[in-house]
Amino acid sequence: MAEAAAQTAPSPSSFISDVKTLRERARRHIEEGAVTPSYGADKDLVLRLLNEALATELVCVLRYRRHYFLAAGALAEAVKKEFLVHAQEEQAHADLIAERIVQLGGEPNFDPEGLAGRSHSEYVAGKTLTDMLREDLIAERIAIESYTEMIAYLQDKDATTRRMLEGILAVEEEHAEELASMLQKV
Ligand SMILES: [Fe+2]
Ligand SMILES: [Fe+2]
Repeated sequence: MAEAAAQTAPSPSSFISDVKTLRERARRHIEEGAVTPSYGADKDLVLRLLNEALATELVCVLRYRRHYFLAAGALAEAVKKEFLVHAQEEQAHADLIAERIVQLGGEPNFDPEGLAGRSHSEYVAGKTLTDMLREDLIAERIAIESYTEMIAYLQDKDATTRRMLEGILAVEEEHAEELASMLQKV
């Protein structure tokens, strides 16, 4: 009875490598740090996408900070606070992404030369409060689209990067929702 059950149960070794194999694989290419042979994504592609996301976040920091300092008008005080919070949250996203790029053996690109070109969203200065809110909302919607696509590509190929991006995506969705409701009030 016990023997029959043992024969039909799937062997754990069919999906988990044995200790010897795991240890051997970890010893190979130790210069690659956190990237082991079981890393399933195209690392160069992931690094390029993450550097584009980094540029996007940095452009968002700059745009939100400009909007924070320039927001004026009757409703500006509440909106200003929101711009500052968003700028700080985009900076935190940039830091998370830069850290992950280094973990994957890449280099975060902070070069101001070409920053706007690498970014998915544009830097639109915006003059009135309505312009600013609209441009910020457009930028958030671009970020939501690009993070959603990156998450769909990564799936289980690089679960750590995917989870990080899922966390960032949730914040971008909050930003977009807040901007849309503020836009209705101005
Ligand atoms: Fe962000
Ligand atoms: Fe955002």
